[in-house]
Amino acid sequence: MSGEIVFSPFQLKGFTLKNRIGVAPMTRMSSSGDSIPRQDVFDFLIRRAQNGAAFVFTEAIVTDYESAQGYPGQSRLVTQRQIEAWKPVVRAIQKEGAIAIMQMFHCGRMAWPDINPANRVIAPSAITPKQINPMTGEPYSVPDIMTQFDIDHVIVGFVETAKGAIEAGFDGIEIHGAHGYLINNFLSSYANERTDHYGGSVENRFRFAHEVIQAVKKVIPDDRLLTFRISNWGVADPEVSLFNSKDEYQEIIKMLSREPIDVISVSTYGYKDHAFGTDQNMAQITREATDLPLMICGQIYDRDSAEDALKHADIVLSAKSLLLNPDWVENVRSGKQLSRYKSEEANVAYTDEPLL
Ligand SMILES: Cc1cc2nc3c(=O)[nH]c(=O)nc-3n(C[C@H](O)[C@H](O)[C@H](O)COP(=O)(O)O)c2cc1C
Repeated sequence: MSGEIVFSPFQLKGFTLKNRIGVAPMTRMSSSGDSIPRQDVFDFLIRRAQNGAAFVFTEAIVTDYESAQGYPGQSRLVTQRQIEAWKPVVRAIQKEGAIAIMQMFHCGRMAWPDINPANRVIAPSAITPKQINPMTGEPYSVPDIMTQFDIDHVIVGFVETAKGAIEAGFDGIEIHGAHGYLINNFLSSYANERTDHYGGSVENRFRFAHEVIQAVKKVIPDDRLLTFRISNWGVADPEVSLFNSKDEYQEIIKMLSREPIDVISVSTYGYKDHAFGTDQNMAQITREATDLPLMICGQIYDRDSAEDALKHADIVLSAKSLLLNPDWVENVRSGKQLSRYKSEEANVAYTDEPLL
């Protein structure tokens, strides 16, 4: 075991990371109606900073009260009460020497109209995922095709949520462009059949992401981080490659690299998996197309896998291992033999059982 990289520091803008390990964003669906997570969910994030993670991402916070929400009990960060609730959490994470990042998203065609006050589902095109919505047991709702008004309005939601995060003291903001949600719907021809300047060419499909990034960047101070999460898979129809080829994906990565972002976070099922019919994994393919710092996530569960993943990335994120094992960072440090958690084991995240 080489073990040289994972516990080495890393400089990210003005931030010195104490190691290369971060808590991946994890939705917990714990809000009882005020769009504020339960106290034990907050405590969990603080504890993972105490347990040694250098980075802590929040759950994906939805960007408006109209069409952004896809799962019950999600959080928002636009009212003073919501901001006040996050402030001590952010401070406590920072006190442990960790970096706190707020992830935000709009669910796009994955939204669930019944839990959105405006009762709408909006997306670039009126196309649903093929699979049944596991939350409702029914097909996904056919989205309204977003008008220019909708597009501008949704961007305001990202901006207001980013402002909320800055007010709450977060060190950074992540724009969630992965997993088949709204930004990813625009990026991928699987969900985007528009014929206007938001569809068709890769440049056109990238336009919405560009507009969100530019608008958000304007409201965050220069010393904060702006990160962007991307994936080639979505939570619905997970077998589908959302980008048509390695070239297309790399073109998007190159466009992202020209944006004012500090990190690209690549989400995979398994960091080792080869992509686009090549013998390369997603981190390698991403690295080829950008000089930006990279985060990689997906089945990184012990020291060897963390070190291996860091061959082509700068920071590893873990979801399930950090969710279910409070000692994970220390176990990685000691090289303890660990096994991978199964997805079903992570379902405890959605119960009201407090996690260690
Ligand atoms: C309970 C749970 C909730 C998740 N919620 C989010 C989320 O809100 N945003 C996001 O980008 N990814 C989310 N994910 C995906 C993880 O961040 C991660 O990409 C995925 O679990 C693979 O990493 P792992 O193999 O370390 O678990 C979630 C995963 C789990 C297990």
